[in-house]
Amino acid sequence: DWTPQHIVDELVEDVRATVGSGKVLLGISGGVDSSTLSLLLARAVGDQLTAVFIDHGLLRLGEREQVEHALRPLGVNLVTVDASEQFLSALAGVGDPEAKRKIIGREFIRAFEREAATYGPFDFLAQGTLYPDVIESAGGEGAANIKSHHNVGGLPDDLQFKLVEPFRTLFKDEVREIAALLGLPEAIRTRHPFPGPGLAIRILGDVTREKVDILQRVDDIFISGLREFGLYDATWQALAVLTPIQSVGVMGDERTYKNLVALRAVTSVDGMTAEWARLPHDFLDAVSSRIVNHVHEVSRVVYDVTSKPPATIEWE
Ligand code: XMP
Repeated sequence: DWTPQHIVDELVEDVRATVGSGKVLLGISGGVDSSTLSLLLARAVGDQLTAVFIDHGLLRLGEREQVEHALRPLGVNLVTVDASEQFLSALAGVGDPEAKRKIIGREFIRAFEREAATYGPFDFLAQGTLYPDVIESAGGEGAANIKSHHNVGGLPDDLQFKLVEPFRTLFKDEVREIAALLGLPEAIRTRHPFPGPGLAIRILGDVTREKVDILQRVDDIFISGLREFGLYDATWQALAVLTPIQSVGVMGDERTYKNLVALRAVTSVDGMTAEWARLPHDFLDAVSSRIVNHVHEVSRVVYDVTSKPPATIEWE
């Protein structure tokens, strides 16, 4: 019978045969696929692997540390890079959503190439390509285009690497099983999807370090609340949006004008369509109070009750 253990054994052998004594570079996104791949490669070729995690400064609160604490003890030779200054200065004053995506994609490639030069030369580039991705990009225009539009992790064609893609024949569920076997913490294994451009597309308009800081704190209250109330796994994705709207509030005897934030949670199968999640009022009440009490830059919290279509999951 074909157990996750068999799959791992076979993949480890394949990787060793392909890579030999070569050096392998892997970009870590913090998601389940690249994290699992790093564990597999570490098991197969040890320190011939260099895994690079670029922190663009638009991640969730504590995400870089979470990845470090998950992967390093399991033997992954992991380099993490705080590139927040690079990304935030490139984004300064840019409000258009597609322009923000392009800039982040461009800076990501720059940062990755820089790290590749620092720790290289490398013979192989590893990617966590799954079977559905293989089908999709073989299957002509539509789907592949949507993907490339969304894919910030895309790499330049002129990098002279040979590709290693051990998961090319696997489905997501199989990767999750392998992840469990290899010891990837549950919090990463079952994590919601998170977009490559990160919080930049959840800050409507231009991005500043201050706004990222506000949104990180709001998002953290929302997401840890979902976990606390046992609702995290019942939602497919959940996010907070920082709007540029200033709304009136009362603080003691004074009127204040502070930011409006929106919370969004959806149920979905693949993100192509989605229903707004019917979260319990008690939960919404609790997180709303926590947000306005702890994040002083925010005076009002709303919940998004729009499904996709017509609304997208993200606000930008
Ligand atoms: P939308 O907002 O299009 O989102 O309904 C569908 C899924 O795609 C994610 N998303 C992105 N992922 N880069 C990404 O890597 C992007 O630019 C991007 N835009 C949206 C979104 O989080 C949801 O899971």
